[in-house]
Formats: sequence, structure tokens, C-alpha cells
Amino acid sequence: MSVFIRGTGADKPERLLTNQDLEKLVDTDDEWIFTRTGIRTRHLAAEGEATSDLATRAGQRALDDAGVDASELDLIVVATLSPDMLTPSAANLVQRNLCPGLGIPSFDINAACSGFLYGLQVVKSLIDSGTYRRVLLVGGETITRFVDYQDRGTCILFGDAAGAVVLEHGDEAGGLGSIRVGSDGACHDLICLPGGGSLRPPTTYDPADDRADWFLRMQGNRVFKMAVQSMEQVAKDVLADVGWTVDDVDLVLAHQANRRIISAVGERLGVPPEKVPMNVAEMGNTSAASIPVLLDDQCRGGQIRPGQRILMVGFGAGLTWGAATLEWT
Ligand code: UT7
Repeated sequence: MSVFIRGTGADKPERLLTNQDLEKLVDTDDEWIFTRTGIRTRHLAAEGEATSDLATRAGQRALDDAGVDASELDLIVVATLSPDMLTPSAANLVQRNLCPGLGIPSFDINAACSGFLYGLQVVKSLIDSGTYRRVLLVGGETITRFVDYQDRGTCILFGDAAGAVVLEHGDEAGGLGSIRVGSDGACHDLICLPGGGSLRPPTTYDPADDRADWFLRMQGNRVFKMAVQSMEQVAKDVLADVGWTVDDVDLVLAHQANRRIISAVGERLGVPPEKVPMNVAEMGNTSAASIPVLLDDQCRGGQIRPGQRILMVGFGAGLTWGAATLEWT
């Protein structure tokens, strides 16, 4: 018995933020952004919409793709670092939207950009243990709401989106294999947003204060190096767990943070570029949404076929990291 992805879905908000738009906001240019990151555009959530709205649409599409009614779900999990509000969780609101009144449990996971991989491990364990049979897992973010559009080091990177999968117990061969996740909290200040938490509660807000505390801030350069190292190692670990060589892997779905980071991980693993698809040019970094959105893109584009062996790998604030193997059915 194993755990299978029965359907995928994504939501990419209509509004786009281009490199040319950013040139009007900060001292940057299209060439610098594209050369350093591979990003051309990012999607922005519509005014008045929040993470649960994107997550609901992605979740409904995944349910439709799986041919499952929301009432048949046993659990809803949303991986996000940008929930609608501190409490209740974004997953609670998705549950209200998709299957109100049925009492289906729901909760969020915050492992930043690694959240979808953490979610896969948690959900797989819950299905393996027999606690639940069918679960909706969404990675969803409206991260641009927390980005400082005066900080050229961060504002060029991020976009909003949601990606979802329906996970189900099954007896056939294949499905999810090894999933490993890790973290190093000693690096928590490399990417963080202190404002609004219990350390810097709203009562301490002072408009004359350092605005950096109230937006996502990052030491990009240091993150870059650690991202490449941690993803390479965790990817090798899961491949060893399932006994695959790098040549056995048909597709690597890596967290879409930066084209240079993704290419460096592919090169270090020895995977040819044609097996490492990217949508970072269109999407930017959508944090926990990035891997499930890429998975959905690949499914809709016909690049994923039964029997293919897929490696998913990511990293994020914390630092956190994770990888998973998946045999598509
Ligand atoms: O999901 C996890 C989230 N975090 C990440 O993925 C971040 C990973 N890191 C990165 O993607 C890269 O570090 C960045 C794209 C953020 C920056 O690229 P870099 O090649 O590491 O550049 P850098 O930070 O070393 O900066 C090089 C120069 C600096 O100028 P000086 O000091 O050399 O004069 C920066 O001030 O580039 C400057 N710079 C910019 N110039 C034009 C920084 N941002 C910009 C910008 N436009 N937007």
C-alpha cells in the first residue's frame, strides 16, 4: 500500500507584475533581474483576495481533476507562510469554502518555501497510519502582501499562487516513496518577517521605526549558497532511500526560487537541464505554492506520464529543506 496523487490543480491570479513595472518602483532593470534570477513576471492576487481564495480555487481544480467531491475528503492541509490572518488557519477557510458544515478537519503548515514537502510528509504519514484515506494538500501564498516594494533585493523575487494535490491511499505499485525534511533554526534571521508575531506584536508598531521588521527581509547571497547545498544533499538522501540513481530520474521538480539556484542543483546532481523544468520566468518565487504549481503545469502540458520517476526538492526560510520521490501512476 502506498500514497498516490490522484489530481492536481493550480491558481495563478490574473494580474501580472513585470520587470518593467519594478523598474518604476526601485533602482533595478529587466536585464539585472533576468540575468540574476531568470524571472520576467510574477502573478499578484487581486485586491481583497487572500491566500484561502487562491487555495480554494486550486483545491477545487485538483478535486475536479481527481474526480473527487469535497465531501469525500478526510482532511484539508494548507502549507503557507502568508495565511489570511494569524488565526484561524487558511485551511479552515478553505474548508468553509469547499465543504461547509461537514466537520472535515483542517490545519496549516508553515515551513516557508519547503511547506509543500513538509505537507507531503505529514499527510503521507497520516494516510500510511490509516488515520485518513483521502486528503487535499494545498501550497498557497499571497506573499507579495508582505514584500517591501522599496527593497530591490527582495521585491523582484516573489509572486502569488496556489497549487494543490489530492492524495489518496492505494494498493497499486508506485506513488510517493521517500520523503525527507530538515531544518536549521540557527539561520532563522537569513529570511524572516518579525513584525506581527509575539516577539514584535502590533502594539510595538511604530511608523517611524525600521520598516524592515514589518516586511519579508533576506540575506539573499547567503541563502543562495545554503539553498544549493541543502537541496543537493537532501535530494541525494531520498534517491539513496529508494535505490534510484540520478539516471533513473525522469523529472526534477525543484522549488522555483531562482533559475541559477535550480540550474546549480541540477548540475551538482548530474541531471541534464531538459529534465529540470522551470516556470520561474513566469511565476517568480511563490514559496510553498511553487512545487505544486509546477507539478500541475507539467501535468497539463502532458510532460508527466505514468511510470515516470519524479524527484521534488526545495528549501526555504528557517532554514528548511526537503525532498520527495514519486512514481507517477
Ligand atoms: O525561497 C527562498 C527565498 N530566497 C531566495 O531564493 C533568495 C536566494 N538568493 C537570490 O536569489 C540572490 O541572492 C538574489 C537574486 C536575491 C541576489 O542576487 P546575487 O547575485 O546574490 O546578488 P547580491 O545580493 O550579491 O548583490 C550584487 C549586487 C549588489 O550591489 P553591489 O553591492 O555589488 O554594488 C546589490 O546591491 O547587486 C545589487 N542588487 C541589485 N541591482 C539591481 C541587488 N538587488 C538588485 C536589483 N537590481 N534588484
